[in-house]
Amino acid sequence: MSAPIIDQAAKVFADPTSYADEPRLHAALTHLRAHAPVSLVDSRPYRPFWAITKHADIMKIERANDLFINEPRPLLATADADDMAREQLDAGMGLRTLIHMDDPQHRVVRAIGADWFRPKAMRVLKVRVDELAKVYVDKMVAAGADVSECDFVQEVAVNYPLYVIMSLLGLPESDFPRMLALTQELFGGDDDEFKRGAMLEEQLQVLLEFLGYFNTLTASRRQQPTEDLASAIANARVDGQPLSDVETTSYYVIIATAGHDTTSATIAGGLQALIENPDQRKRLSDSLDLMPLATEEMIRWVTPVKEFMRTATADTSIRGVPIAQGESVCLSYVSGNRDEEVFDHPFRFHVGRDPNKHLAFGYGVHFCLGAALARMEANSFFTELLPQLKTIELKGNPELISTTFVGGLKHLPIRYEVR
Ligand code: HEM
Repeated sequence: MSAPIIDQAAKVFADPTSYADEPRLHAALTHLRAHAPVSLVDSRPYRPFWAITKHADIMKIERANDLFINEPRPLLATADADDMAREQLDAGMGLRTLIHMDDPQHRVVRAIGADWFRPKAMRVLKVRVDELAKVYVDKMVAAGADVSECDFVQEVAVNYPLYVIMSLLGLPESDFPRMLALTQELFGGDDDEFKRGAMLEEQLQVLLEFLGYFNTLTASRRQQPTEDLASAIANARVDGQPLSDVETTSYYVIIATAGHDTTSATIAGGLQALIENPDQRKRLSDSLDLMPLATEEMIRWVTPVKEFMRTATADTSIRGVPIAQGESVCLSYVSGNRDEEVFDHPFRFHVGRDPNKHLAFGYGVHFCLGAALARMEANSFFTELLPQLKTIELKGNPELISTTFVGGLKHLPIRYEVR
């Protein structure tokens, strides 16, 4: 295959709009998996990086967490944004979350929140998650007495996971709308519809608002500890010392942001897949016990986290392609999750898919901390919704967000009837 075609295909990584155009994206990724699974992408405004598109290579790199580390470039950002983040960190006011850290520090900091995501805590939280799933499905049902219409993303999918995460943190319900706007602006940074402003300075303002909000929260939880995750973070000790303001805020931010858009994207993209594959919807509605497999398939199908990066600590190679010390690799989960060598008919949405060794939650020491929660949320929601639906169809064109990091649908117009 000629080099220009490969270079052209690899450019999808350096173009946020490609994630809003799935046919174009998948054509390029399929081509790269077949012809250049380790491809150099040198495209402004990004610094050069290697795009890794095969499932096996992504796992191998994540497993080798001494050779491929998260610092200093954990995710794909423009050179300007990378420089600004570095300046903020050097000035002691940049966010440094679990995804920016490597072991041994990463292990210690991850342990602070880990108990809140273990099965015991999940069983307790399930009551609240089911309750919230019911609130949102009831809203759809109440509106759908006859034939009803809504933008499922904006009216249902973005709110429900945010409420779950805010409940887990222990934040007051009156703050939820503000958090919703801030997380959308922070993660929708590449999409014109959600951008606060084109300037990096204006994006910085969003970060500062986060900082202000969470610093106040830490102070209040330290003064008066409560039974929630925010309190566990505020009162954690590492080597006998409490976390700094920036460290506590970083923790809240990773939980609030990672736990929100990812799960909304899964639920919205999962519903779209069910609408577009009526046989699969019928199969799932007829046997709800398939739900754990179906949610896993929705997560693979949507792959809301598009990539994470690692940087080599020594000269090495992948599939015979030399990677020099200091060079970065971009792990394309989207591509890995359509890898023909791992998945039968990867472009088919299949609610009973088993096995389903997708990489949507990553792999290795950074494996998603909230995976069990995300699965539970999707499971509760569809278990509540499907038995109520008589008919459902698209009422307009679904629209995807432009991003190079976390994303999925931003609009899903639907028309539905309930039983
Ligand atoms: C379907 C929904 C979700 C997806 C697809 C997802 C995906 C991911 C991915 C790909 C990573 C990086 C893994 C790696 O580097 O190997 C990650 C990390 C993380 N996720 Fe999730 N996530 C989801 C939901 C959640 C939820 C609900 C929470 C919690 C509230 C959460 C919290 C985290 C945290 C704290 C990390 C950092 C872990 C670390 O670096 O040690 N995520 N997630």
